[in-house]
Amino acid sequence: MTFQDKVIYQIYPKSFYDSDGDGIGDLRGIIAKISYLKKLNIDMIWFNPFFVSPQNDNGYDIADYYKVDPTFGTMADFEELAAKLKEAHIGIMLDMVLNHTSTDHEWFQKALAGDKKYQAFYYLRDPKPNGDLPTNWESKFGGPAWGKFGNTGKYYLHLYDPTQADLDWHNPEVRQELYKVINFWRAKGVHGFRFDVINVTGKETKLVDAPTDVASKTLYTDTPVVQDYLKEMNTASFGQDPDAITVGEMSSTSIANSVQYTLPANHELTMVFTFHHLKVDYANGEKWTKAPFDFMKLKQILNDWQIGMAKGGGWNALFWNNHDQPRALNRFGDPVHYRAKSAEMLATTMHLLRGTPYIYMGEEIGMSDPDYTSMADYVDIECKNAYKELLAAGKSATEAFEIVKTKSRDNSRTPMQWDNSEYAGFSTHKPWLMPTNQAEVNVKDELVTGEIFAYYQKLIKLRKTQPIISLGDFKPLLENDPQVFAYLRDYKGQTLVVLNNFYGKSTTVQLPDSLANRSGKILISNYPEQTTVGPKIELKPYQSTALLLN
Ligand code: GLC
Repeated sequence: MTFQDKVIYQIYPKSFYDSDGDGIGDLRGIIAKISYLKKLNIDMIWFNPFFVSPQNDNGYDIADYYKVDPTFGTMADFEELAAKLKEAHIGIMLDMVLNHTSTDHEWFQKALAGDKKYQAFYYLRDPKPNGDLPTNWESKFGGPAWGKFGNTGKYYLHLYDPTQADLDWHNPEVRQELYKVINFWRAKGVHGFRFDVINVTGKETKLVDAPTDVASKTLYTDTPVVQDYLKEMNTASFGQDPDAITVGEMSSTSIANSVQYTLPANHELTMVFTFHHLKVDYANGEKWTKAPFDFMKLKQILNDWQIGMAKGGGWNALFWNNHDQPRALNRFGDPVHYRAKSAEMLATTMHLLRGTPYIYMGEEIGMSDPDYTSMADYVDIECKNAYKELLAAGKSATEAFEIVKTKSRDNSRTPMQWDNSEYAGFSTHKPWLMPTNQAEVNVKDELVTGEIFAYYQKLIKLRKTQPIISLGDFKPLLENDPQVFAYLRDYKGQTLVVLNNFYGKSTTVQLPDSLANRSGKILISNYPEQTTVGPKIELKPYQSTALLLN
């Protein structure tokens, strides 16, 4: 099975389509929209977790890996969805949250009740002799990473919410239980798996304080043992399936490690999600800040990863958006003045790179961040904690709110906008998160008068018909241009020149003679096509143009 020409679509089930009128999306809602998905011609859908969960972290806190949460439907609904997607030639990628379980999970509950076998599933530690927490590690959602383990006097590790207890991967029984979960879903016809925060599974057995000048995550992230775990998991589960497509979510990883994770000969994963390119609008590396994006840094990161991964024989997942990121259109485009053009430019930039593109629901119609006016409009635990911390650090309520508004994960979690009605055609009931601009952006209008959806269709078709896109080499171009991200793809004597204007003003680029002298044609552009390919190319606001040269 080739994976290089595939395009994957991400659905956040809670927000895609509500079939039973409770304001929350569900599996039957997805069944109802298969014909829409089919139109886009995507190959596989990554579903965020819909397993039994108290939903403290929207399903990333799993209490039963083997059951569908009743909010989303039943196992019969899943089976029907799987069968209908199969008919539509769309594969399924499930989200495996294997670093931690919900504290409601049977394993954790048995551990709490004193069962030694299950106590060995988690990181339980004594406090320091002076009564301090076992280590100084911080939870990624704010506060310390240790919670009181019942009244035992011990603490359990939670790198995320206190209701998400980290599993101890050193324990072979834990790993075997997790492989069983993967194989259970494989038996239901699932060929794709996304592994949540998989590179924080490699903690030491002896957990120690991080030095004061070092972030605690550097002690347990992306350590060599993760490679061993992945190899073992591959052999014990999806590696037995020649059609498997897998992606690991890799926090703070490196190019060198990502090559190793994805090198086919290593039998670990098909590809990785990495996040360096989405931190270029963090002031001083801090997420909870508001700053314009650093374009030159973005170019450099994308170029370095493209070159490094190709050189090592690794493979990238290509994405701007997901359920943890504010909409890229708000960060790198202009949803007010150039919604369509900037959405298409961002899509072109990603889809023509070397790797597998992911489309996050709504991206294909140009959805943007909601325009919320109060903290009460937000749901996500991470931004609620961040707001409190920003206030505690001395920010005014207005400043803290502005930061949350730009950075909250809820920005991408608002309901899919199907039409311009009060609840955006998502539900008959008030949705769990409200849409705010469905009057301007919705599927119904987009399919009739819009251009973004049709442009995505073209990009997807090109990947399937032009091997230069799926297989070509990558070379950076015009590296010093402060406005244009340009690159080349080479394959069997042809060259694809991709030019993307990241700003709302026109510019002209001069192609080097080696390219300007070659004949060719425009493969795709988000402006009406120019007829000639010359040495000087004018790019209008947010224009993308890809030239195929012979
Ligand atoms: C990943 C998920 C995110 C979740 C976290 C903890 O980063 O994408 O949504 O909160 O893992 O499971």
